Amino acid sequence: MSADLSDLMLVPLDRNSPVPVLRQVYLELRRAILAGVPPPGGRLPPTRTLAARLGVARNTVVAAYEQLLAEGFIEGRVGAGSFVSRDLPDAPEPPPAAAGAPPPPAPPASRRFAGAQAHTGEYGTAPFNTGRCALDERTLQVWRVLTMRRLQRPDPAWLGYADPAGPPALRQAIARYLRTSRAVRCEPEQVVVTAGAQQAIDLMLRVLLEPGDPVWLEDPCYPAVRAALAAARARVVPVRVDAQGMDVAAGIAASPDARLAYVTPSSQYPLGVVLSMARRLDLLAWARRAGAWVLEDDYDSEFRYAGRPLASLQGIDDGGRVIYVGTFNKALFPGLRLGYAVVPWELLEPVRAARLLTDWHPAALPAGVVTDFLEEGHFAPHLRRMRQRYLASRDALAAALREHLADRLDVEVPEQGMKLLARLRPGLSDLAVSAAAARRGLIARPVSPMFLAAPPVQALMLGFSGHEPGALRWAARELAAALAGHDG
Ligand SMILES: Cc1ncc(COP(=O)(O)O)c(C=O)c1O
Repeated sequence: MSADLSDLMLVPLDRNSPVPVLRQVYLELRRAILAGVPPPGGRLPPTRTLAARLGVARNTVVAAYEQLLAEGFIEGRVGAGSFVSRDLPDAPEPPPAAAGAPPPPAPPASRRFAGAQAHTGEYGTAPFNTGRCALDERTLQVWRVLTMRRLQRPDPAWLGYADPAGPPALRQAIARYLRTSRAVRCEPEQVVVTAGAQQAIDLMLRVLLEPGDPVWLEDPCYPAVRAALAAARARVVPVRVDAQGMDVAAGIAASPDARLAYVTPSSQYPLGVVLSMARRLDLLAWARRAGAWVLEDDYDSEFRYAGRPLASLQGIDDGGRVIYVGTFNKALFPGLRLGYAVVPWELLEPVRAARLLTDWHPAALPAGVVTDFLEEGHFAPHLRRMRQRYLASRDALAAALREHLADRLDVEVPEQGMKLLARLRPGLSDLAVSAAAARRGLIARPVSPMFLAAPPVQALMLGFSGHEPGALRWAARELAAALAGHDG
């Protein structure tokens, strides 16, 4: 028996609330479940019925169910019936309310992490969430076979602790891949396997910086690195970005003695521009002169759709000043949590030590599977297939946006990556449009908060990878409906 909708006691959604509709739906459902309606084992209403009752897009309810599923509140397959878990996770206990006593303040040191989570994107499957990946049956089948093979012959090394830089075989496979595909100059010993680009960046900041050290950051910037720099108590020096990428001369004028420059040269985050060769050479010359380091974040270079990519910055650096960072969390999938840094020799020992102090070493099983995936030739065909998929999604999204929203935004079709930039016409605010989109269950990331000192551009960052063309076409229509009659 499905729970009667009236039993769910859902509070009406507040359309004027700053809390996105999806979150409101999720919170209400969670509250009802924890209140025992429906009881453990009871069936939840079909998503379509609940969506109609609440007056929201069905995708919104699907996304709320998926989140509850992921958190263990419900079980079953979305679409085939969802049931309240028989084994409900404990709801977080509210802190004991000592009568009259204010809660103890968080320690001052914790303030450097304040807001970091708000800087990062949103979670969930809704279009146009960025950073989502696709996996097809071929890759999954290979993955199953490789995993089973590793499990059938478990490595005795798993029963003990291991090298913080990761298994030698994986480091060798990564070095080989980077030399041929990105012209990175490296020996396997210089590769430090991490949980992803983010961990690699965080380790480097901790090894390279003293509190107060000036660091060049592209303006606009990748928000999670801005947050990591705040956590490292670095002094951020915004360096504007133009059509040639980071304006190196502006960086030198603002802070010639910066200790570090963080750059996304092959596809600037968020604008997508490529750092020109002239700027690359200027940046490397400055780093050599100033004794500064350059952190090259090459997060999505595997997905290039046109033209030849420029080789890595690290590969043209004769001064040994560049730390190259890459990731499998985009080329394969974010839940994998595997990436790497190629570290100059003199930094290797402290970086390995920092990795050890953080989480000792990468998990052995996924590292082994990725090693086999690379070494047995599955990676290149996987990338080719995903590139085709993402290209189809990119083109479907660009066409749908042009069809439905040509009067409201200008679409920039990127030659690389997993997201596109849609610049809003004058008078529209990206924060307001993003909020209107969220009320329809869409995730349209505003770009203006990514600006530091430069005048902000009003634009949306729309992810296309990992979303089917049909879903993107539907979402573009929903976005147009969200914008209809919306004047900023
Ligand atoms: C510019 C940039 N750097 C780094 C990352 C983090 O990647 P990872 O998942 O490997 O930590 C992302 C993720 O979206 C990104 O966009």
